[in-house]
Amino acid sequence: MHQKQLVGEAAARLVENKMVVGLGSGSTVFYTLKKLGSLVSEGLHIQGVATSDKTAELAREFKIPLVNLGAVEHIDIAIDGADEMDPYFNLIKGGGGALLREKMIAKAAKRMVIIADSSKNVEKLGGFLLPVEIIPFGWEMTARHIQRLGGSSKLRLRSDNKPYVTDNKNYILDCNFNFITNPAQLEVSLNMIPGVVENGLFVDVPTDVITILNENVKMFQNLKN
Ligand code: 5RP
Repeated sequence: MHQKQLVGEAAARLVENKMVVGLGSGSTVFYTLKKLGSLVSEGLHIQGVATSDKTAELAREFKIPLVNLGAVEHIDIAIDGADEMDPYFNLIKGGGGALLREKMIAKAAKRMVIIADSSKNVEKLGGFLLPVEIIPFGWEMTARHIQRLGGSSKLRLRSDNKPYVTDNKNYILDCNFNFITNPAQLEVSLNMIPGVVENGLFVDVPTDVITILNENVKMFQNLKN
């Protein structure tokens, strides 16, 4: 079985009856959604909070009941993918452009479970370009401010060369900071720039990780939890 399917389904098995579940975005979460759909058809009662329009669409397809983030007090468990993960459980997310809602849902979650195939494990973050969601107004100026922090950036484009637009009607800059030596500081510095809405660094989010080690599914718990 594909690594993404193994970790995606393993996470779905952590979901218990009556839970409010944060539903992440991406090709790994696809398998979680599919498995949750089949558990729901067997009688599991859950409410899902989707991190993207695409995930909401898939959840409807798999008949997972949905609720809005604002309508719940908290999320019991959020399950999401990652683009990179370092040994300290710091993440880069947002390859699929859903980082803002993903971070909002992670913040509301009592437990966050990251599902990552072995290609996502890195010693230092930054090989994957860091996605930063920005408002379209004056975006070039926002890009210049980011450059002053030491990063180069590229506006994410769609296949027709028009700017990629997020579910929140914003743009994404994919930023190259080479290897990120201080993710906590960079996360804060980026978010201080007017025009930046959110960035894809997830630092100090209490996270459990399901990944593949020596061809086996393994769960690691963040001891900072
Ligand atoms: C989307 C994300 C995804 O979780 C991340 O890109 C991983 O995706 P995949 O499971 O397809 O590798 O952050 O914004």
